[in-house]
Amino acid sequence: MSTRLFPKDFFWGTATSSYQIEGAWNEDGKGPSIWDTYAHTPGKIKNGDTGDVANDHYHRYKEDVALMKNDLGANAYRFSIAWPRIFPQGTGAPNPKGLDFYNRLVDELVAAGVAPFPTLYHWDLPQALQDKGGWQNHDTAKAFGDYAGYMAEKLSDRVRHFFTINEFRSFVDMGHQTKVVNVPGGTMDISIAPGLNLAPGELNQVRHHTVLAHGMAVQAIRAKSKAGTKVGPAEVLESAVPLIETPEHIKAAQTATRERNAPFLTVMLEGKYTDAYLKEAGDDAPKFTDGDLKIIASPLDFVGVNCYKPTVYVLASDRAPGWREIPFAKGHPKMSTSWLTVGPEALYWAPKLVQSLWKAKEIFITENGCATDDVLANDGKVYDTDRIMFLRACLTQLQRATADGVPVNGYFQWSTMDNFEWTYGFGNRFGLVYVDFKTQKRTPKLSAAWFREAAAKNAVV
Ligand code: FCB
Repeated sequence: MSTRLFPKDFFWGTATSSYQIEGAWNEDGKGPSIWDTYAHTPGKIKNGDTGDVANDHYHRYKEDVALMKNDLGANAYRFSIAWPRIFPQGTGAPNPKGLDFYNRLVDELVAAGVAPFPTLYHWDLPQALQDKGGWQNHDTAKAFGDYAGYMAEKLSDRVRHFFTINEFRSFVDMGHQTKVVNVPGGTMDISIAPGLNLAPGELNQVRHHTVLAHGMAVQAIRAKSKAGTKVGPAEVLESAVPLIETPEHIKAAQTATRERNAPFLTVMLEGKYTDAYLKEAGDDAPKFTDGDLKIIASPLDFVGVNCYKPTVYVLASDRAPGWREIPFAKGHPKMSTSWLTVGPEALYWAPKLVQSLWKAKEIFITENGCATDDVLANDGKVYDTDRIMFLRACLTQLQRATADGVPVNGYFQWSTMDNFEWTYGFGNRFGLVYVDFKTQKRTPKLSAAWFREAAAKNAVV
């Protein structure tokens, strides 16, 4: 058993985001976000679901923190702060009642021995900023930096880790153009708020503004927080996983991973866009200055990686660029969500590649998990053997990375409880805890017991 242990002081956490669980969409002075607008637009979300009430976490946070402590045995919690609760207009005067909610949540977590890991942006941009061009507008980056500094000033007496932005790639590419995702036997298109369809050059500029916003936030957090506060992004790494683990294929995976992340993690960690990215974009390349690049590459304390599956499988190739993509076979297994191809080895390769490419000091797996077709059994419980299989497989691979010396210091399971899964609505259940959205009753699934045991033993169980 000892070979399956995680490092000492490992964080065992679960994760959520504001729009997906809070509800209270227009309470206590909160301004609307682009997700309020999008979900209120008929036809955008499955079954017409919205996050208006969601898990009613805004009112039930005490019960939810107790679940984390008692039923999940977690010692960390990754949640996000709704920017429009704090600055209803995106900039200008803060809303004290919005801040008060996060103060109460953080106090509750600290009292329960659950370390708070807030994310400052998990896709719910203030609608007021969208009305001024959203992420197409350079000023949004500055507004984000100001908001990040404000939150760090208010919370860093109790919060030691801040994540800037969640999954740049997803909200940028899926929100501003339709993103094509590889799945077994083909591809699928995904589109989310604000639901734009920009030209390639405009999209690259949006990408640039978001990494610039991240850099400005890092600097503002450093300037305003208590000494020792740590900061980093939470990006969904485009991971190229070697199909055969030999040096030439591993090298191919490294080259591919560095290139595929060129507009996001690579520029944040290297301070420049890769030549191949700029060349391929040509006239559509983002417009930027050397000063921007310096800000974007502000030194980080850690890299957060959301990892659900390999983005692509690769093999080495004699031809430039030295690797080739091997599509997922038609019969390759997937979980009940159509995009979730099963590939637990991504949990080994994603942190391993982040370490080997960029020498990250500290890495967190900021999301990993799966949706399952959960049903309540006659005894009122949920026996999600599929989720336990998925978790065990993923954590076995993650443990392998830590045993190799990759500095992974925590793992956040997506998600604490079933919630509003963006355009899929409430149908895609990602939680360790089952939620009846009519009554708001929470029922820990069997996977919650598995997670609790793993956290208690600090090992794969
Ligand atoms: C990620 C998102 C998160 C959740 C999971 C399933 O891409 O960051 O909010 O929807 O997928």
